[in-house]
Amino acid sequence: MTEQEQILKLREELHKHNYNYYVLNMPAIPDQEFDMMMHQLQDLEKLHPEMADPNSPTQRVGSDLNNEFTTIQHKRPMLSLANTYNRQEVSDFYERVKEGLQGAPFQICCELKFDGLSISLHYEHGRLVRAVTRGDGTQGDDVTQNVRTIKSIPLLLPQDGGYPEEFEIRGEVLMPWTSFERLNEQRAGKEEPLFANPRNAASGTLKSKNSIVVAERGLDAYLYYLLGDDIPVDGHYQNMEAARKWGFQVSKAMKLANTLQEVYDYIEYWDKERKNLPVATDGIVLKVNSLAQQKSLGITAKSPRWAIAYKFQAEQAETILRQVVFQVGRTGTITPVANMDPIQLSGTQVRRATLHNADVMAQLDLHVGDHILVEKGGEIIPKVVGKACPSESASPKINFIGYCPACGSKLIRYEGEAAHYCPNETGCPPLIVGKIEHFVSRKAMNIFSLGPEIVESYFEQGLINNPADLYTLRAEQLLNADKSNAISVNNILISIEESKKVPFERVLFAIGIRFVGEIAAKTLARYFGSMEKISTATLDKLIQVNGIGDVIANSIIKYFSDQKNISFIRRLKEYGLQMQISQEQQEAKSDRLADNSIVISGVFTHHSRDEYKALIEKHGGKNVGSISGKTSFILAGENMGPSKLEKAQKLGVRIMNEDEFLQLVGEV
Ligand code: IVH
Repeated sequence: MTEQEQILKLREELHKHNYNYYVLNMPAIPDQEFDMMMHQLQDLEKLHPEMADPNSPTQRVGSDLNNEFTTIQHKRPMLSLANTYNRQEVSDFYERVKEGLQGAPFQICCELKFDGLSISLHYEHGRLVRAVTRGDGTQGDDVTQNVRTIKSIPLLLPQDGGYPEEFEIRGEVLMPWTSFERLNEQRAGKEEPLFANPRNAASGTLKSKNSIVVAERGLDAYLYYLLGDDIPVDGHYQNMEAARKWGFQVSKAMKLANTLQEVYDYIEYWDKERKNLPVATDGIVLKVNSLAQQKSLGITAKSPRWAIAYKFQAEQAETILRQVVFQVGRTGTITPVANMDPIQLSGTQVRRATLHNADVMAQLDLHVGDHILVEKGGEIIPKVVGKACPSESASPKINFIGYCPACGSKLIRYEGEAAHYCPNETGCPPLIVGKIEHFVSRKAMNIFSLGPEIVESYFEQGLINNPADLYTLRAEQLLNADKSNAISVNNILISIEESKKVPFERVLFAIGIRFVGEIAAKTLARYFGSMEKISTATLDKLIQVNGIGDVIANSIIKYFSDQKNISFIRRLKEYGLQMQISQEQQEAKSDRLADNSIVISGVFTHHSRDEYKALIEKHGGKNVGSISGKTSFILAGENMGPSKLEKAQKLGVRIMNEDEFLQLVGEV
């Protein structure tokens, strides 16, 4: 056998063993032997660079070449599913299907709803050619290189497997509980922010620019939807069974139901049993099994009529309340948190749960020693939802606090808001740190080398007491501060210096006026042009600005009536920060939308229709009234007309929402 033939043979065998190990969970050879074959293949591939193949089993380790994702239009839109939450809604769905099929017999394929991120895989002649994320449903990111590292996704299908020459298979990329816990432990060790749940972790990982990172994090994938022009048979279930034979990981939990009762039985069984699964699930998906029947039922604007998702209730457990502590957040919000006896919930051990705010706490009527019910939904922070039984404990009721536990200030509660706040913005430690963290953050002054830990440590050492102090820092001071070496000190000082060039609108956002977010800051900066004008604007004048209401306007007036803020801004100005918009910015034009015909439809939140028209023109585009094959895209707000939507879908014209549009023209 030539070396070239050996390479092909090794690849084929390794693909097979990979499938046995990762999909069937039935390794046919010892790990050592597998590793040996892999090394042999790696050596041979080095000798024969002409045989390089992105689908070789050796490529599953990833590459650290920078991975820029290109956007790819989905051949068929990736729709989402309508959600249901109870038996009645499931029964309504069943009845709708029955009616839609005019009494013809039908089967429902019941499946688990995997809680990860959806992926579309394209195969041509048995080879993986492309993997694309869902994106906005019409287009997504090309993540093929990262997906190649997921061991349960076949790169090459067995020859003569009976699969179509070209097909698409969709499924969910997931991070199994074990990988998730390992990853968060590692991150906690490095003081990096934790992922809230396996879904976020999987999504963050799949979008990583470095496929070695993806390979290390142990992602998995389940496939649940086959599409193409030559699908083998009419049954969805049967096609998925076939896909399993071709090498895809298809859940064994799929089941065909002939009656509504069988659907209920399935839901009931998996609601309990899912706790033993290695991956997160958040419900059940019900699909009409026959593809012909699916076709005859059709789709609505967003989701198919032939399928629905039934969402599980969040998992609950009972434990004993030991103490309530009050946390002061970076914006001054006070959050009551229950410390309790540890319990297992959705695969992790839980000791703390949020009590949200004073109203929730009062309603729960808590006493130390109470048996409480804790629930964990999709997010990492569990919550207390009630008491298991009326309290028998003699300990007194736990009340909300009146004064800030960090600085002793009297707490306030804004009208119409549930939270209590510490108002001591310039004197309460967590608030000062929060203000500085906000100031340096990416979308504000972008002083990226100053992470939260460094900010906290500089504050604790008395080096900075407000954001303006950053501009007085000197190298000697920072070298004495813990954890900082000469290189990082230099980087910090450079990025502080660089921040002086950050445009005015971001300075306005960075100073942290309550309710003035990124968009409002941008709007105000463009309208008034300078800090001077904003700081002296009257309430009437502020309200005139599109997108600025009473709440924001009042907050601005209040901010500039405080002498401390005035001197803070004066200092920033002295240090050289931008206090007005640049001349070029005022006149800026671009040709980003050159040759684009754009239809505007619906109701918008960030700008008025006229402003969007002006923006389109400013960037070289043309605003047109009706949709045609020549329309480049539709800028769609809420409540876009159904006829327009239908026409757009028929002609395959892209629908872009406000945020995407603003991003496209660089106005975010
Ligand atoms: S079928 C047109 N099956 O749930 C139907 N989706 O809201 C396409 N999902 O975006 C989806 N498990 O990410 C289908 N067994 C399953 C699923 C599933 C999870 C996700 C998928 C989809 C979302 C629908």
